[in-house]
Parts: sequence; structure tokens; C-alpha cells
Amino acid sequence: MADLFDFTGRTALVTGAASGIGAACARLLAQCGAQRLVLTDWNDAGLNALDLPCEVVRVAGDVGDPAHWDEVAGHLGGLDHAVLNAGIAGGGTPILEMQWDKWRRTCSTNLDGVFLGIKHSMAAMSQSGGGSMVLIASVAAVRGNSSIDYGATKAAVAHMAKIAAREGGPMGIRANAIAPGGVDTPIWDTTDGFRQFVAGKMGGDRERAIEEFGKIGTPLGRFATADEIAGQIGFLLSDTAATITGAVLVSDGGFSI
Ligand code: NAI
Repeated sequence: MADLFDFTGRTALVTGAASGIGAACARLLAQCGAQRLVLTDWNDAGLNALDLPCEVVRVAGDVGDPAHWDEVAGHLGGLDHAVLNAGIAGGGTPILEMQWDKWRRTCSTNLDGVFLGIKHSMAAMSQSGGGSMVLIASVAAVRGNSSIDYGATKAAVAHMAKIAAREGGPMGIRANAIAPGGVDTPIWDTTDGFRQFVAGKMGGDRERAIEEFGKIGTPLGRFATADEIAGQIGFLLSDTAATITGAVLVSDGGFSI
């Protein structure tokens, strides 16, 4: 993947960089020439475990907390690219069982965190002559099949990409969203339904559980890997996508058809 896109000399921000899709994006950007990466996550140990061949600034904290962004903003000089990726799973809780605390927790990370990321990235890019950002939505943004907290926040993320694209265009800033279907990352292990499926029907075999989930309703019959989604994000960030803005790229193996 190293020669797919050229980010030589660029500065990029990745939120939720300690794991899964965010970590894959950080690796891709570094391998494709990025000079400086600003990586944020509330998992400090995961951030420190990333060994990348470029200058790296690590800022541990909660993307839903404006004070975290005050700290991150100090490192965004010369920002060219942003991957606003940090997110938490919904877990399938039905509306009648949804507690206010859970609703607010999901909104804080998936909605407030992305809004703050857009605002600070746009401010930095407007000072550096433009740039591009990719927001990580979900196929749950276009299908009503997830819990209400996750689906509503991801639909909002997809919509925020369009608003950021309209406002950012005159400043040379592109904003797009990607809406993945199932991706094999640790986020699945945070949901009760998946954990119970692994422990029960799959007899503890996580790999087989991912294979089985990948077959459910997906014409291509499998989950994506984090590296595959990172490659698609890389395309949207890159100069190859110079005329694409306000798009929501559905990458779900056909799940939403
Ligand atoms: P992951 O759990 O491997 O990575 C998410 C990262 O975000 C973690 O390192 C976590 O510590 C960090 N994070 C979560 N909340 C945070 C907060 N408030 N502040 C700072 N860091 C925070 O999960 P994955 O799959 O890589 O998820 C990345 C994005 O992709 C999320 O927005 C998720 O909703 C989205 N997505 C994932 C899909 C999947 O099947 N894995 C499908 C569709 C979308």
C-alpha cells in the first residue's frame, strides 16, 4: 500500500488512532510520506505503542471534551489532512431500554467529538491554505438497523461532511465521509451481542465469529479489514480525490443495497 498515495511532507491529524481503523490510517499516512502526524485517543498506552517512521505528536484525551481540543489545537499548525475517526459502538440497545447516560456517552464521542474535530481542523487548514478531511460515519447512517444512539450520531456525521464541504470549499478545504459496513476491529469486542456470540455459538473462536457476522446480509460475504478502509480514506484525503467533496462513500460489501 506504501506507493498508493503521496503524502510527502504533509501534516495530518488522526483521532482514535490507538486502534483499528485509526491506527491503520496513521500507518498508511506515515508509509506514504507524511512528515508529521498528530494522533489523539483516550487510550494513552495504545497511542504510545504505535511505532511510525515520521514525527509523531501524541495527545491523550477525550475527543468529546472541548478542553482536549484546546490542547490538540496547539499542535495543528500547517495541518493538511484530518481523519476524524474516534467513535464508540451502539451495542444494539432498543429505544425503550436506552438510558440517558448511554445516549449522552455516544453523542459525546460520536457527535460532539466529530464537531469539535471539524471546527479545529477547519480553523487550522484555513490558516495553511486548505486541506482535506475524512469523517468516519457508518452504514448505520444510511440504514435504520442499529441502536438509535449510534445510527443517529453516524447519520449526523455523514451530514456534517456535507456542511463542512460547503463552508470549507471557498477556503480550499474538502470534507468527505466514509460509511463502512462491518470492519474487523476491536470495536466489536466492546458489544455484548458479539461477545456473547463468540463465547456461546462460536465456542470462543473470535475469527470464525467475524466470518459468520460478515455473511449476514452482505452480498460480498465478509467484513472489511482496517487496512482496506484506511486505503479508501487515504484516497479521499489524497490529491487524487481533488474534486470530491461532500461525498459519503459507502464501503459495506453491499450490505445497504
Ligand atoms: P476501535 O475501537 O478499534 O477504535 C476506536 C478508537 O477510538 C479506540 O482507540 C478508542 O480508544 C478511541 N476512542 C473512542 N472514544 C474516544 C473518545 N471519546 N476520545 C478519544 N478516543 C476515543 O474501533 P474502529 O472500528 O477502528 O472504529 C473507528 C471508527 O469507525 C468509529 O467511529 C466507528 O464507529 C467506525 N466504524 C467502525 C465499523 C466497524 O465495523 N469496526 C463500522 C462502521 C464504522
